[in-house]
Amino acid sequence: MLQVTDVQRTFKSGDTTVTAVGGVNFKIPEGKFASIVGQSGSGKTTLLSLLGGLDKPTSGSIEVDGQDITKMHDHQLIGYRCRKIGFVFQQYNLVPNLTAIENVMLPMEFAKVPVAKRQARAKELLAQVELSEDQMKRKPGRLSGGQQQRVAIARALANSPALILADEPTGNLDSQTGKMIFDLLHSLSRSQNTTIVVVTHDLSIAGKTDKVFRLKDGKLVR
Ligand SMILES: Nc1ncnc2c1ncn2[C@@H]1O[C@H](COP(=O)(O)OP(=O)(O)OP(=O)(O)O)[C@@H](O)[C@H]1O
Ligand SMILES: [Mg+2]
Repeated sequence: MLQVTDVQRTFKSGDTTVTAVGGVNFKIPEGKFASIVGQSGSGKTTLLSLLGGLDKPTSGSIEVDGQDITKMHDHQLIGYRCRKIGFVFQQYNLVPNLTAIENVMLPMEFAKVPVAKRQARAKELLAQVELSEDQMKRKPGRLSGGQQQRVAIARALANSPALILADEPTGNLDSQTGKMIFDLLHSLSRSQNTTIVVVTHDLSIAGKTDKVFRLKDGKLVR
């Protein structure tokens, strides 16, 4: 369960204060698939960063499995991100000089998983996102956008996170590939009871999720 209570995030720039997220409340039960929609600048990325512990709110609390991550120290947050969260970004963010398998193995290395197990799990996850044995051995530059995003999803799943956070994961893909990535995320949330929060501009995608949160100027609207 993810519970967000009165979360606010403001940024100071010079004399002015920008309210990126202005007092947001919501709950997402475990295993549900939620989407966040809203215009550019409405606070979607800021909110996602707060949920993932990449940033801290100015006020409010964010509870994940009963633990308030806003009260964690930095070293605790690093552990939280590593073990509990899988991130998927619009630009894939793969390490260019590592192969697909090595990219998926990386978060497991941070989690101190033994090397043989890392390799076996990376292969299993890449097979699950339907990459061929040959594609697994390639570096990102030699894979298509959709294939790179599937590697990024496999990497996000590496440490069996409770929560997957995806910021415009289909934004760089054609609509058919985007739908395939989305269906993949959907089936993962079902099969592994993973909670997923996805930011998207695509209303046809958002319409198929369990819950849709619409942000406007940093606030949730109906
Ligand atoms: N570090 C920062 N310093 C100052 N202002 C910021 C900072 N980060 C974000 N903002 C502002 O907060 C608001 C929300 O930004 P955010 O990136 O969350 O929007 P978004 O909904 O993700 O937009 P997009 O759809 O374009 O990605 C914007 O007005 C932005 O300029
Ligand atoms: Mg954004």
